[in-house]
Formats: sequence, C-alpha cells, structure tokens
Amino acid sequence: MKREEVFNFSAGPSVLPTPVLERAASELLNYRGSGMSVMEMSHRSGVFMELFAETKARLRAALSVPETHEILFLQGGASLQFSMIPLNLSAEGDTVDYAVTGNFARIACREAEKYCRVNVAASSESTDFDRIPAQKELKLSPEAKYFYYCANNTIYGTAWPYVPETAAPLVCDMSSEILSRPVDVSRYGLIFAGAQKNMAPAGLTVVIIDKALAGKERPVTPLMLSYQRMIDKDSMYNTPPCYNIYVLGLVLDWVAANGGVAGMEKLKKQRSALLYNYLDESRLFKPCAGKDCRSDMNVTFRTGDAALDAEFVKFTQANGMQNVKGHRSVGGMRASIYNAMPVEGVEKLVALMKEFEVKHHV
Ligand SMILES: Cc1ncc(COP(=O)(O)O)c(C=O)c1O
Repeated sequence: MKREEVFNFSAGPSVLPTPVLERAASELLNYRGSGMSVMEMSHRSGVFMELFAETKARLRAALSVPETHEILFLQGGASLQFSMIPLNLSAEGDTVDYAVTGNFARIACREAEKYCRVNVAASSESTDFDRIPAQKELKLSPEAKYFYYCANNTIYGTAWPYVPETAAPLVCDMSSEILSRPVDVSRYGLIFAGAQKNMAPAGLTVVIIDKALAGKERPVTPLMLSYQRMIDKDSMYNTPPCYNIYVLGLVLDWVAANGGVAGMEKLKKQRSALLYNYLDESRLFKPCAGKDCRSDMNVTFRTGDAALDAEFVKFTQANGMQNVKGHRSVGGMRASIYNAMPVEGVEKLVALMKEFEVKHHV
C-alpha cells in the first residue's frame, strides 16, 4: 500500500506528519553538512548540542514553559515516571493523592502504593472508567505531597474537562494530549508525556518539572531516576535518545508552522466534532465516554455487538483505515486522532461509518 492510501488511527506509536518524515529522510545521511546522520553523531558534539538546545527552546516556546520549570528529555517510557514521581516527590510515610480514571492512572497509583500512603482521591473504576470526577468529588488529603492525574485516558477515550484545584502540586500524565492545546504550565508541579503519540517516535519521555520540587529524592533512588541529576546534567547524565529528540525538533517546527498549539487545538476540535456529531446521531454506533468528558484525541465507540464491531474493523482495514480496533482490554473501536491525523482522514472514517450503517439497515 502507498502511504497516501492509508490513514493510521493508532493510539501509539502514532502517525507523524508526512513533511516531518520527508525532512528526516532528506537529512538522514547527512545532517546539515556534518557528513553524518544524527543517529551516528556524539551527543557531546557541537552539531548535536546545537540541535538539542534548539529543540528544547522550541518546546519551551510552544508550551510557554516558564523559567521556573525545567524541560527534561528522558527514557524509560511514560511508565517509568510512575516510579520516578513517588521516588522523587515524596518521602517514606508521606501521603499522596491519586485520581484513578483509567488503566495508566491505575498502574501509576499501584506503583506509588509501594512507596507512600496513597489516597485515592477519586476513581471511576466502578463504571468502567467512562467518566471523569467533578472537582467537588475529589477527596483531597490536606497533607498530600502531590495530586496525580492523567489528563487524557487513551484507552477509554475520556479527558479531564478542567484542571483540578488542589493545594498540593499537580502532577499530570499528558502522554496522549501534549502539544494539542495551550497549557498553563505554571499551574503544574510536573508534567510528563511519552513521545510516541504527538511528539516523536517511541523512546523519548518529556518531563517538565518545577525546579523547586526537585532535589528531594529518597536516598535509595537510582541515579538514573533522579530529576535533580538530570536537571544538573541537562538530560545528558548518560546518552539521551538523540534521534528521537531530533524528530521532536522537526515536529515542533511543523506545529509552529501550523499555528502552534492554538492551531493544533482548532484542528483537534474540528476532527473530534466530525466524529462525535455523527456518533450522536448514529443508530448503529454509540460513543463510550460520557458527553462532558470526551477526549478529542482518542474517540471510543461501539455497536454493542462484538461480531459487528469486528466486521466494521475489517471493513475499515479494507478501505485503508488502520488501527481502528479498540484496546484489547475494552473491545469496540477507537479512533486515535492525534495532531498529525489530517481532517480528511476523519472525514473518510465518518463516510465509511455511514456506509456501514446503511448496509446494516439500521
Ligand atoms: C496516557 C498514557 N500514559 C502512559 C502510557 C504508557 O506509556 P509508555 O508505553 O511510554 O510507558 C500510555 C501508553 O499508551 C498512555 O497512553
């Protein structure tokens, strides 16, 4: 199949903008006249150090990251943050607050339970994570060292429609929505995101941390897992994921050329409205997430009949739509429509849904 014939709705690793891949391809063998690929050069070389600084500056500009916060380029996936956070931001016996609104928040919460007293401030597990708790439902502990939540729940297709108000610093997993809208970074103690949805290939994790929170890691914290060490070494305590950082730089260029994060937000609203407007009318397909907390990045839906869902997924595949199948733990369908998904891809998906609905005489 040709690239032009495919729309890739994968939840991660996900579609990257074609102009980004074209530029990476054109620079693959010889980056800026260095005679080398970025994959081959020393991370301490002048050429790479310049690329690194430019990428960091572009990310700082894209999200208006204040000088109080440091940007780190780490490895270990978003999942390693589930351990790094309690190890660095709490001491033994401390209480921390977690909101459990999906699979990844639940894993993060269980990991934290190894290290601290975890107060589950809210959970939507009993209703299969179909909703996000309201501010007034949050049972916050006055002594909490931080409040943890996942802004966008990739598997369930829900997103927090508000930023929680808490006395404790906010710690947020933004893996599946970073760079899709403006964020007031100053409201957060720590933001983290695996790169493989909206930023770069898998293997890079971006952390944005209020420097005032770093430097208090537990004595047992492995060297590699200390935020302060990574701040001191500008993410280069060891070899960073060089090529992924390079691609992130290209993606940030593409974001800037397309209106920045405000431009990304406009496009994401356009894409998700196409799907949700149709889903709200459809007599065959039903949206899974509560109306007040729908994700603009991962749209989950189902027919209510597993066999028909499977038939629909097959039908989309035959028509160049890849990865529309829901996560294996929940079934149904999921269209992940991250920044790099063209509006045209969503229009085509909706057209196929309509055709399928008519065929099934609903
Ligand atoms: C919201 C969210 N958090 C965390 C993760 C885990 O990311 P990683 O595979 O980079 O550890 C994912 C993966 O899809 C995710 O969607």
